[in-house]
Amino acid sequence: MKGLILSGGHGTRLRPLTHTGPKQLIPIANKPVLFYAIEDLKNADVTDIGLILGTNMPEKVKEAVGDGSQFGVNITYINQGEPKGLAHAVAVAKDFVGEDPFIMYLGDNILKSGIKEFVDGFEKSDYQARILLQYVENPRQFGVAELDSEGHVMNLVEKPEHPKSNLALVGIYLFKPSIFDAISKIKPSWRDELEITDAIQELLNKDLKVDSHIVKGWWKDTGKPEDVLDANHLILDVLKSQNNGEVEDGTKINGRVYIGEGTIVKKNSVIRGPVIIGENCVIEAYIGPYTSIGDNSTIIGGEIESSIVVGDAVIKCNERIVDSLIGNHSRVESKENSLPKGLRFIVGENSVVYL
Ligand code: DAU
Repeated sequence: MKGLILSGGHGTRLRPLTHTGPKQLIPIANKPVLFYAIEDLKNADVTDIGLILGTNMPEKVKEAVGDGSQFGVNITYINQGEPKGLAHAVAVAKDFVGEDPFIMYLGDNILKSGIKEFVDGFEKSDYQARILLQYVENPRQFGVAELDSEGHVMNLVEKPEHPKSNLALVGIYLFKPSIFDAISKIKPSWRDELEITDAIQELLNKDLKVDSHIVKGWWKDTGKPEDVLDANHLILDVLKSQNNGEVEDGTKINGRVYIGEGTIVKKNSVIRGPVIIGENCVIEAYIGPYTSIGDNSTIIGGEIESSIVVGDAVIKCNERIVDSLIGNHSRVESKENSLPKGLRFIVGENSVVYL
């Protein structure tokens, strides 16, 4: 069984963070979302992995993942170029896949329970595809499955205007090489992409067997900022406490808190877990629950809660920052002795400012 992880795409819904790197490298609890997919594959004994690269700074993915040895897997990079759809990305990987069954994992998806149970038994079965499904409140944003009364997949539609069910396709799929023939038969969709959903429907049209599993536990597609923050909550919910740094006397630490090497938490700080703080940070502030602070960040004064600070950031202010995503090398500062007269902004394209 081979693995195929998709790390292309434009990441438009996560701008401006994706102006400086691919969305699959956005950290969830201080670890790029893509790494969770690689670890899930490794835990399911899938170690021969093709990694699809797009046009948005693919060299950053290569730099972070390397040859895969840090995860105990072997990575082959495959260039897709322009994102012409999930099925297009699979077609580009045809030589890599060869005659093997394979598992396709969207590099921005994250799943609580891992994929081992899902992979078991597929290789020897006569199923040509196995899909993962989960009930969602907003099915229009996903591929949607309609099942018959016995739970067999009847049909699949990508982002339907009038969904026939609340069962969304999770971005993890198992295929036999027959999917390549199905892909060659489909046409681009209304969003001008070759949809993997349509290719699986093509298998169904030919009466080939498609199996489905309904996911237990949570699943997140981290395509939008609120989903990234939700995923951060879910991962921090199972964080283990550890202190590898220095915590000065007079600091209050409650709940589960992870502190990285070289980090100093100065006196009078309050850290209310679950919170993860990376390496070489300086903290003299209130850090509230469900917050991830990346390496080399300095946070002095104010409060930060339910947020992600990617890293190398400086935050020096007396404000309360909540539900925020703060990119690498950002600065958030209050001007000294500033009066609350006016607010000065230098705000990029597609930014959202809540006051
Ligand atoms: O997350 C689950 C959903 O993922 C499914 O319910 C949908 O059926 C499926 O089409 C997909 O929908 P999205 O609109 O969320 O897909 P997105 O364009 O965000 O791409 C998913 C991942 O694949 C993302 O990590 C980028 C990567 N990608 C995307 C395209 C279009 C590529 O590597 N190449 C591509 O051409």
